[in-house]
Parts: sequence; C-alpha cells; structure tokens
Amino acid sequence: MRDDAAAGKRASPSGRVSGRAQRARASFAARYGPWALVAGGTDGIGAAFARELAARGLNLVLVARRSELLQSFARELGERYPIRLLPLSLDLATPEGLSALFALTGEIEIGLLVSNAALSPIGEFLDHLDSTHERLIDLNCRAPALLAWRLGRGMAERGRGGIIFLSSMAGFQGTALTAHYAASKAYVRVLAEGLWKELRPRGVDVLACNAGLVRTPTLLRENPREGGLLAAPLMESDRVVFETLRALGRRATVIPGRTNRISSWIVTRLLPRKAAIALFSSGTRAMYRDGYRPSPPR
Ligand SMILES: NC(=O)c1ccc[n+]([C@@H]2O[C@H](COP(=O)([O-])OP(=O)(O)OC[C@H]3O[C@@H](n4cnc5c(N)ncnc54)[C@H](OP(=O)(O)O)[C@@H]3O)[C@@H](O)[C@H]2O)c1
Repeated sequence: MRDDAAAGKRASPSGRVSGRAQRARASFAARYGPWALVAGGTDGIGAAFARELAARGLNLVLVARRSELLQSFARELGERYPIRLLPLSLDLATPEGLSALFALTGEIEIGLLVSNAALSPIGEFLDHLDSTHERLIDLNCRAPALLAWRLGRGMAERGRGGIIFLSSMAGFQGTALTAHYAASKAYVRVLAEGLWKELRPRGVDVLACNAGLVRTPTLLRENPREGGLLAAPLMESDRVVFETLRALGRRATVIPGRTNRISSWIVTRLLPRKAAIALFSSGTRAMYRDGYRPSPPR
C-alpha cells in the first residue's frame, strides 16, 4: 500500500476527507476488504486496529472474551462509521472458541486478519502453573496458526488479502522472566516470514509486527516500572497501527518506532547473542523490580 493509504489520518480539521485520501481508502478496502477480523479487538493495539480499519471502510469481526466491553466498543464503532460489525465473545485459547469462530464466520468474506490477542505472563518459567503454559501455547501459537490457515485459504483462492501477526521485539532473543512469551513471539514472526514468501505469489500480503513496549491496558496492568526496558518512552497503539499498515504489502516484518528500530539493529546485528539475552533479561528484571501484577484470570 502507498503511504497515503493512512487514510484515516487524512481528515481535515473540518472533518472532510481529501479526494486522495478517499481513493486510498477505496483501494485499501478493495485489496483487504470487505471484512477484517481482529482477534483481540477491544482494547490496546487490537482496538486501535479496529478503529483504523473501520475508518478505512472495512466491516469488522471483533473477537474478545469480555462481552460487555465487546458490545459497547462495537456500538461505539457502529455509531461512528458506516460499516457492518460482528462482535463475537469467544475464548481463542480453546478449541471450542476457534471452532465456533470458524462456524460463525464461514459465510463472510474476510480479506484481512489481524492476529493480535496474546497471553504475556511475567515470572519465572518454573513458577507458572502448567495451565498457564498450555493457555499461552494455545492463544499465542495455536490460534494464530489456525486462523491464518483457515482464513488464508479463502484469501489465496480469491487472490487477495492480508494477514498481520502481532509479534514483539521480545521475540528476537530469549529473555528471562518472559521466556515462554518471547519464544511464542519468535514462533509467530518466523511463521509470518515463511507465509510471506509462500503467499505473496498468491496475492496475500503477510506481515509480522515486532512491536516494542506499547501503552496498553494489558501492559499497564502488569505494573511495569520506569527504567530497564522502560527507559525508552512507551509507544502509543495508534502509531503502531499506522506504521504496521504502512508496511503491509511492502515487507515481511516491521518494527514500529525509530528508537525501537535502532535498538533492535544494535541488539540483533552488533551484540553477541549472549549479550543480547543478558541485556533483555536484566532490562525486564529492572522493569518488574517491584514485583509484577499478573493479569487477573478472566
Ligand atoms: N503492549 C505491549 O507493550 C506489546 C509489545 C509488543 C507486542 N505486543 C503484542 O501486541 C498484541 C496486543 O497486545 P496488548 O498489550 O494490546 O494486549 P493483549 O492482552 O494481547 O490483547 C488484548 C485484547 O485481546 C483480547 N483477548 C485476550 N485474551 C483473549 C482470548 N483468550 N480470547 C479472545 N480474546 C482475547 C482482549 O479482550 P478480552 O480480555 O475481553 O478477551 C483484548 O481485546 C499481543 O500479541 C502482544 O504480544 C504488545
């Protein structure tokens, strides 16, 4: 997509959208519409994706567990944008949730998948419950792979579409305190790279977004402290979404944020691997030096 495809950002102060922005919206919707599915589309980065895609005229399937938040967010989008919405309250970490999602969306032409929801437990690997590890594998690895398989087949048949996987800079190296989460983010990044190569000739754009730290309710709930990896300012979700959609169709992976790109270049290209692991591990420990607050089980 061209830069001016950041169509949602092109409204003038009067609220009018320029002709160029309208054309960019139309071409985005023709390439990736008529429907997008945002897995985890009610808060944080997923909600920012939902808002931007709605502004670009895509109908939305929104998936999350908390029904009230889901319904009120869908209502808010429906009042603001002339699009169709299908809010589905499902747990993507369960086989039943995924089966229900596929059954309920089977007839819908989904041209864009944003695989966003993840579990990010902080703490020593051995201290987590076995059920936490199982849920992490199910939500962070199983769900993205099966969503991409199921929706990717339809896109490849139609010869157009896009798949965005939310990965993380944590996935570039092993990291103490987030060992399993970091491994799961490496999984989706490598999956995205392979699919980018496989699906490009079939008209489907695949992209891994390797975000750095982003100000989201999930991150803030975990009680991170200034310092360590938090020495750099947190990014805002809107900016992550803008840079990700700008990269879609242009490359296989994107790191939103200039500071993040520079630090990633240093860590992955200049530092020996052992030093990169040590740096990210001590940075994460410093961030949670006052202890961390695990997200309440929902
Ligand atoms: N925040 C950061 O600093 C950061 C940095 C790098 C990468 N990322 C990646 O960006 C993505 C989004 O992160 P985030 O911080 O915005 O928060 P998140 O907790 O990954 O996503 C929140 C959204 O996912 C939904 N969700 C969570 N578990 C679900 C489940 N089992 N089934 C269905 N929906 C579920 C939530 O709604 P319900 O709770 O109602 O289900 C909510 O809509 C993740 O993949 C994360 O790894 C985040």
